[in-house]
Amino acid sequence: MKRFTEAPWKVRAWRELEAARARTLAMLHGLPEAELLRQHSPLMSPLVWDVAHVANYEEQWLLRALGGPAFTDPAFDAIYDAFRHPRRTRSELPLLFPAEAFAYATRVRQAVREHLDTLPEDSPEPLLKDGFVFGMVAQHEQQHAETLAATLQLMTTWEYRPAARERPRPGAVPQHEVLIPGGPVRLGSDGAWAYDNERPAHTVDVPAFLLDAHPVTNGDYLVFVESGGYEEPRWWQPKGWEFIQAERIRHPLFWLPQGQHVWLRRRFGWVEPLPKDEPVQHVCWYEADAYARWAGKRLPTEAEWEKAAQGSDGTARAHPWGDAPSTPEHANLGGDTWGPSPVGSSLQGRSADGVWGLLGDVWEWTASDFTGYAGFRAFPYREYSEVFFGSEYRVLRGGAWASAPVAVRNSFRNWDYPIRRQIFAGFRCARDVA
Ligand code: AVJ
Ligand code: FE
Repeated sequence: MKRFTEAPWKVRAWRELEAARARTLAMLHGLPEAELLRQHSPLMSPLVWDVAHVANYEEQWLLRALGGPAFTDPAFDAIYDAFRHPRRTRSELPLLFPAEAFAYATRVRQAVREHLDTLPEDSPEPLLKDGFVFGMVAQHEQQHAETLAATLQLMTTWEYRPAARERPRPGAVPQHEVLIPGGPVRLGSDGAWAYDNERPAHTVDVPAFLLDAHPVTNGDYLVFVESGGYEEPRWWQPKGWEFIQAERIRHPLFWLPQGQHVWLRRRFGWVEPLPKDEPVQHVCWYEADAYARWAGKRLPTEAEWEKAAQGSDGTARAHPWGDAPSTPEHANLGGDTWGPSPVGSSLQGRSADGVWGLLGDVWEWTASDFTGYAGFRAFPYREYSEVFFGSEYRVLRGGAWASAPVAVRNSFRNWDYPIRRQIFAGFRCARDVA
């Protein structure tokens, strides 16, 4: 029997799981079977792989790991194990067909609902404490929804034009720099749904620095492109220079040069004039790093970024604006705008020091390698974070328009290779105080 009052963590867990599922289904609604099965890019899985992978992950963590029913043969897990099969090979696997994948996801979810009702509200089991593992699975499905969005953006065989929520069109807000005073800052989180890579919360000292009040815009970046930034090796790290030569990269991904200073960009099924006042997106770390050098600046470290998000007044905050949940006035998150908003759109989202747009719109590349904090302990499995630690990956902060609020906070750390451009990533610059 379902009780009339449920533990708050159960209410939140179910709400976030269902929100993630509603988004996944809405994103893929109406796509022909062939498009769901197709490998749209060697960088991405077939869309239908993500659907069944999300369901299989949910079965493993919310049913089997919690003593619930196992209704698939664990041998089936291998097909949907991200470590066993690189993305480019996944269309060759004996994948579930779209109707089967959606039905599997629904069956798992129904069993999770029933199992959730039987779970103790207060359990000493670390997976269950404050519903951690439910938060992990809800964030996972939302991370894959963002991955689906990246695949849909790469798709060229189908004109994908979802209904997009209107984005605000504020007046121009000029770029300026904000002085972030030096001092201690509390980094990371011990919060109930924080990932192992955010733990433990700890204090570090960050010297004073200057940070761009907004992410670098398309208009800003265009000056770098048109003034020959991609032809001048001195702005580039040697590996970045090598990469843009080999790939013949001359501008951000999805920009379409028309000649005579006319630029269009493709955003899903729309081809539109390049909006000068939106944050630049689809640049790799090397492009961000080169722009910053050309501008006489540098990328912020992740500690600097998080200090700017926390504010220099010493108050611990989940978001730059405080602990209040995100609304469209705070940040462009959740995926239904289908693109970044112009800089300066989210007045309510400013940090205590007056930095704009830290959460939402575009992920922001930082100067930092992805490593474990002192005292890191892998939980609940090494393959989420720990196996990626080292100098191969750079940290991104803040989330994009395609990231869900549940999967974004001041302490959240994303990571990718410095050559990756299909993710919804941009950047802002920092500078030492002279
Ligand atoms: C945190 C975005 C780097 O997509 O590789 C999804 C998230 N982990 N399934 C990724 C993730 C396992 C991860 N990132
Ligand atoms: Fe995954």
